[in-house]
Amino acid sequence: MTNTELIDKLRNESSLTDDEFRQLLESLDEKDEEYLYARARERKEEFYGKDVYLRGLIEFTNYCKNDCLYCGIRCSNKNAERYRLKKEEIMSAVENGYKLGFRTFVLQGGEDLSYSDDDICEIVSEIKRLHGDSAVTLSIGERSRESYEKFFKAGADRYLLRHETANEEHYSKLHPNNLSPENRKRCLRDLKEIGFQTGAGMMVGSPFQTIDNIIEDLRFLKELSPEMVGIGPFIPHKDTPFKDKAEGRAEDTLHLLAIIRLMLPKVLLPATTALGTIDARGREKGLLAGANVIMPNLSPVTVRGKYLLYDGKICTGEEAAECWQCMQRRVASTGYEVSISRGDAKK
Ligand code: 5AD
Ligand code: FES
Repeated sequence: MTNTELIDKLRNESSLTDDEFRQLLESLDEKDEEYLYARARERKEEFYGKDVYLRGLIEFTNYCKNDCLYCGIRCSNKNAERYRLKKEEIMSAVENGYKLGFRTFVLQGGEDLSYSDDDICEIVSEIKRLHGDSAVTLSIGERSRESYEKFFKAGADRYLLRHETANEEHYSKLHPNNLSPENRKRCLRDLKEIGFQTGAGMMVGSPFQTIDNIIEDLRFLKELSPEMVGIGPFIPHKDTPFKDKAEGRAEDTLHLLAIIRLMLPKVLLPATTALGTIDARGREKGLLAGANVIMPNLSPVTVRGKYLLYDGKICTGEEAAECWQCMQRRVASTGYEVSISRGDAKK
């Protein structure tokens, strides 16, 4: 089949065989790309029209007990300047964001057990008490099913936990031995069963990743059928074992965004900061390739430059209000519109 035929098949059947995926991922040229992105936009607009949803990201701690080889806040990076936000500081970032129009707050952090389950629940319920019209998303890594149940009862609506790679061998090349792909997947299944709108995802072009790994990721995503999928290019961080590894490619990321849109038509799909970091118009291109979410930073400016998972991260010097305006402009330049709503997944 030609690539155009494969794209049509993916559009109509929302999946392909492994060989077909391989052909598409290996041989898309510029003409095919345009066709792929146009189909992905159509599919997105069927469900979401021109709306782009904003998520206010609050990076509340960069302490992490884990030592993932790719990540700048891994515990063995002694050069990372660590910080933790107090509950009051988190709430003031939320207030700031609420005034600007944000209706989703994403509390993201390293795996930092100094925030107990009760601490997290307290913050979540306080945000929900003050802003019942807003969604709260947690992105704080692997915890027990019981912890996840408590967070859900406290009012958290969504949870982001990238699976990183669906392939066991690849997983073991990116992570130390005490982290297992089984536990990761257990967490994701628990989160879904408990009732969270759940997000999974992987880095594009992470060290040792093969095309077959990516196909496994696509199969895993299709099977899990998460409400959100976060993908972005791998970018090396100077103080990690992967400092000399090549970064992921923007084109590959855009291809995968479009493919994921066609596989999971209703998915909420961010154009990530990492994509905006390797390409100055990466996020805009992401929106034009099927993404429909952007996650501006609401963390206090004093800590922004410290939540560095990779080198060169953009938007670390901006105030929340500036970020908001910059985002409005960027989104408008694509012909889409920022929506002021919670932006839940369509059923
Ligand atoms: N480059 C790109 N993305 C990274 N992440 C962590 N380190 C890097 C890096 N060096 C991603 C992981 C994690 C998410 C919060 O950020 O996929 O799940
Ligand atoms: Fe943050 Fe542009 S989105 S400054």
